[in-house]
Amino acid sequence: MKFFIDSGDLGEIHEAQAMGAIDGVTTNPSLLSKGGKPTKQAIAEICELVDGPISAEVLATDTQGILDEGRELAKIHPNVVVKVPLIVDGLKAVQVFTKEKIKTNVTLCFSPTQALLAAKAGATYISPFIGRLDDLSGEGMELIEQITTIYSNYGFATEVLVASIRSPLHVTQAALIGADVATIPFKVITQLAKHPLTDIGLAKFLEDAKKIPKS
Ligand code: E4P
Repeated sequence: MKFFIDSGDLGEIHEAQAMGAIDGVTTNPSLLSKGGKPTKQAIAEICELVDGPISAEVLATDTQGILDEGRELAKIHPNVVVKVPLIVDGLKAVQVFTKEKIKTNVTLCFSPTQALLAAKAGATYISPFIGRLDDLSGEGMELIEQITTIYSNYGFATEVLVASIRSPLHVTQAALIGADVATIPFKVITQLAKHPLTDIGLAKFLEDAKKIPKS
């Protein structure tokens, strides 16, 4: 299972990468708006830091605009993946990007049929947003199960990128289902390493170690 960090913050990305946890990065306009840098500059800096797929989202919502913007983003670095919203114009653009061998991450997916259309358009990744479904009293993880089953039924190459992750439990559930990728906020990445019994056990070992004769 691949882990991407869902962040536009270079400090967070650097820290998570130092843990050896990071295979790639996803960003979105909300995340990049916190950094105060122009998108192209922010994405270029992330590409310098992480050698893996880096998702950069288009802002256009019409096919031609998405194509123009996506091609510009793809020029930043060979690792850039163009993030396209799951709307009809977006799907039309994804088909063209697929022919041009530009990698795509189709974002804001909330249903199995949306995921099916993205795969048929040749998307590299599909991003179902599970946390936002949970927020509306839905069951986000059911969507991951449905999409992975559908993709495996028909042998689609599109990778399931579990997005809008809110907790370590989401990561465990996504891994049990066999999702290809989880994109995880920095806070949750650090939570993945934590267990109170580890801290209690370590404190006890260090305390007991003081009783061991030095020589
Ligand atoms: C994924 O690509 C999105 O950037 C992200 O996971 C959205 O998460 P949120 O629902 O916490 O904003």
